[in-house]
Amino acid sequence: MKLQIALLKGDGIGPEVTAQAVKCLQAVEETFGHEFHFKEALVGAAAMDAYGDPLPEQTLELCKKSDAVLFGAIGDPRYDNDPSAKVRPEQGLLRLRKELGLFCNIRPIKVFPTLMEKSPLKKKVIQGTDFVIYRELTGGIYFGEKSLSEDGTTATDSCTYTEAEISRIAHLAFKAAKGRRKKVTLVDKANVLESSRLWRRVVTKIGESYPEVTLDCMFIDNAAMQLLLKPSQFDVILTENMFGDILSDEGSAVGGSIGLLPSASTGEHHALFEPVHGSYPQAAGKDIANPIASILSAAMLLDHFKLDEESRAVVIAVLKSIKKGVVSPDLSTSSKYGTSHIGDFISGNIRDSDEYLILN
Ligand code: IPM
Ligand code: MN
Repeated sequence: MKLQIALLKGDGIGPEVTAQAVKCLQAVEETFGHEFHFKEALVGAAAMDAYGDPLPEQTLELCKKSDAVLFGAIGDPRYDNDPSAKVRPEQGLLRLRKELGLFCNIRPIKVFPTLMEKSPLKKKVIQGTDFVIYRELTGGIYFGEKSLSEDGTTATDSCTYTEAEISRIAHLAFKAAKGRRKKVTLVDKANVLESSRLWRRVVTKIGESYPEVTLDCMFIDNAAMQLLLKPSQFDVILTENMFGDILSDEGSAVGGSIGLLPSASTGEHHALFEPVHGSYPQAAGKDIANPIASILSAAMLLDHFKLDEESRAVVIAVLKSIKKGVVSPDLSTSSKYGTSHIGDFISGNIRDSDEYLILN
């Protein structure tokens, strides 16, 4: 298969982790006989430094004409600590999601058996955790009207959803549940928010056309608690933009490190793959960042193009690095392996097809 992949490495550890994912995709390309073309463009603070814009026109154009986008991370402390900053790196990612119509953000959370002791939760609590968050990504409070009164004492962010926005992601969540444990949990705040009540009505109606899937509705406050009490009860969590943002970071702690979590953001015409973690500026350039989330995002990219065997080869190569202890310091305090070495090890595993067949 021929694929053009836009590389938006972004800020902080983005460039170093994305470079490892590229190594793995190149290993897939060679081992399975595909043709992947990578083209880089700037985004986030890196793009602001160069062009004064977190999403320059040429970056957006490149993404639009590529088959997929592999994204690193975004964010820079120079802007985090400046509440008066008019332009922020994060706006680049938000605009990109909107412009590419990436309304469906998919974040799988699975506990790796060999990493159970990394979790702050007890083994018996996290055992069997395997769920996926379907987070609405282009609506809600993130994109609602914002205002600040002239005297700066009153601020507003409004949350709006339409039936059409809810319905298109709900169908995807139910379809995903059909291929899994057949349960959708809609997370909302329908006891307080009008927009949540619309979510409930629309999703309940759609649920009737998926009789094999059970629909549960749960308030966000309870869901945040249930995720720590019994994460294994979840299969597909369907939720709006901000609740999904919060729950996915919480969910990542269940597995022990946010450095493991990949994500896919899809729409009608485009798809973007990125780690759930941020730019982790304290670690930038130190060769200590965990490249696994980025590498698993590359595996999700392969899945998206139905390259199942290829994606599996990447996942197995990652599992092997974990099993052999070739991991970054967030997973092992005694780790002597750098980001780049881990990328070499995992891409080497992909090339070594005999070995992953044995591991199967
Ligand atoms: C995420 C991030 C983004 C979000 C930020 C960087 C805008 O936290 O992808 O989860 O809030 O969506
Ligand atoms: Mn987030």
